[in-house]
Amino acid sequence: MSTDILFAPLQFGALVLPHRIVMPALTRMRAGPGGVPRAISAEYYAQRASAGLIITEATAISIQGHGYPQIPGIHTAEQIAGWRAVTDAVHACGERIVLQIVHHGRWSHSSYNPDGSLPVAPSAIAPPGNAYTPSFTQVPYEVPRALETKELPEIVGSFRQSAKNAREAGFDGVEIHGANGFLLDQFLQDGSNHRTDTYGGTIENRARLLLEVVDGISAVIGADRTAVRLSPHGNLGGLSDSDTVPHFSYVIGELGKRNLAYLHLIEPRASSIGLADDASVDSANNAALFRHLFTGPLITAGGYTTRMGIDAIAAGLADAVAFGRMFIANPDLPERIRAGAPLNPFDRSTAYGGDAHGYTDYPTLPLQHEVTTV
Ligand code: FNR
Repeated sequence: MSTDILFAPLQFGALVLPHRIVMPALTRMRAGPGGVPRAISAEYYAQRASAGLIITEATAISIQGHGYPQIPGIHTAEQIAGWRAVTDAVHACGERIVLQIVHHGRWSHSSYNPDGSLPVAPSAIAPPGNAYTPSFTQVPYEVPRALETKELPEIVGSFRQSAKNAREAGFDGVEIHGANGFLLDQFLQDGSNHRTDTYGGTIENRARLLLEVVDGISAVIGADRTAVRLSPHGNLGGLSDSDTVPHFSYVIGELGKRNLAYLHLIEPRASSIGLADDASVDSANNAALFRHLFTGPLITAGGYTTRMGIDAIAAGLADAVAFGRMFIANPDLPERIRAGAPLNPFDRSTAYGGDAHGYTDYPTLPLQHEVTTV
């Protein structure tokens, strides 16, 4: 199988990628106290510096934006300094790295808020299942507090500030997390957004917060360093939408007008991947449905094998492919793909939380030494 198509360079706005094998955002829950990335995270990301682009784990834009234990933030000076060590380590390898920024919305718990206040959401509707508290115990999700209209500029402001902080920390850009059931996705999808103000009801209204965030961030760091991740048809966090294709067609069409660095679409078959190995395969193909609406660079993600990635690019459905679990388990993934080498299996038991085990100790291929004959 020729993998040449994966190794063609391409331009993502202000970023030049040497090839099309991308490391997507992967939450690992190993940040230190105060959501500060530890030194070991610099080692982890630098190990994966042969990726065409590294997108960091989801990183909270504000205290209110946290929702999982030991995830990093980008809203304090200590967090910025911690991330600076990561970007320096990655840039020293000649690599590009963008920060994925998130507000978890209703997928959180009051124990993350110093004043014990409820998580916030578009509407007072609890997600199904259990939240993880900061101490990794599981408790049922609470009914969140619906954000008031007058609070939304503050959310946009926190996103803007986090993008500025990301640049100060040395990141080449940011990826706005509009996917996988978090706050911006909760606003987009009408199963979780029952608002009656200008941020609810029609798809134009439900997309307003995301587009304000995109425009706000573009204004401070440039559209060519701003990217968005979406998961149409995704049902993580109990999300649903009454008419996904027309609704997300509008959203993606609007993003297509904004000269962004890239759009990152997750395939619906990945909806359960973050939580279980038996992904339920949905028949919808987001890359095929929405590619024509976005003229800029597009990354596709979700259950891809090397063969599927090659086929997606060859069919014009995407410009680059993100491999999540394969990158966790194979720090030298591009080299393995090029060589057709076997892949280390992903160990789910060490994915979230813990120490170096399952984080920085996945083996790389033995170095290939040139053999000289006499
Ligand atoms: C994820 N995924 C994810 N997505 C995201 O946008 N932000 C995140 O922080 C995370 N965190 C995360 C952690 C772990 C352990 C897994 C397995 C997944 C989803 C990820 O980026 C990707 O879309 C899926 O893993 C599907 O791709 P693969 O693994 O099938 O290549």
